[in-house]
Amino acid sequence: MKEEFFNKLREKIFPYFEGTNPCHDMDHIDRVLSLALTIGEKENADLEILKVAVLLHDIARKEQDEFKGEICHAERGCELAREILKELGYSGGKIEKVIHCIKTHRFKNGDVPKSIEAKILYDADKLDSIGGIGILRVASFSGYIGSVVHNPSVDIEKTKAYSKDDSAYREFLVKLVRVKDKMFTDEGKRIAKGRHKFMAEFFDRLNKEVKGEL
Ligand SMILES: [Fe+2]
Ligand SMILES: [Fe+2]
Repeated sequence: MKEEFFNKLREKIFPYFEGTNPCHDMDHIDRVLSLALTIGEKENADLEILKVAVLLHDIARKEQDEFKGEICHAERGCELAREILKELGYSGGKIEKVIHCIKTHRFKNGDVPKSIEAKILYDADKLDSIGGIGILRVASFSGYIGSVVHNPSVDIEKTKAYSKDDSAYREFLVKLVRVKDKMFTDEGKRIAKGRHKFMAEFFDRLNKEVKGEL
């Protein structure tokens, strides 16, 4: 039953990711899933709830982008996830556990991840923005919005998101440098430390390269 259920769920969510920004496509879902299951096993989480929550957590992301951020994909995602899970005959108690994870995965507007599954979804989702994959994602996004390749002397106070100066490096300095301090789980903290180190070393090296030192 479980495998059949997950196959049906995957089929249901697929259309929501067609034509999405490459940072939040089905590959993002699959990476977060692998990481969430690795952390979930260590943290003795309910892997079924975790898997369902990961698959559905960004289902409204495309809608948020289309409405230029006027709707919150975590909140809208809860409505869509409820409909889909009811349609698939998923039990009410389990639906609420999944909804808590989706609602709190941005940790915004006072929505704090409380269950271990919600904390793991948050950690795994954020971890996908740092490390080797973080470098590629942020470079892909800066290309997508047409920003410069690199601006080593960028002043983050004087530059804006989505501008020509919103390079991969600016995104690292503004946001990604703090991801390692936001983890809830011990395993998340451990993985974040390694990923952060790799990313920071990459930008250090890059800054030396562009100065002609390497
Ligand atoms: Fe999200
Ligand atoms: Fe996500």
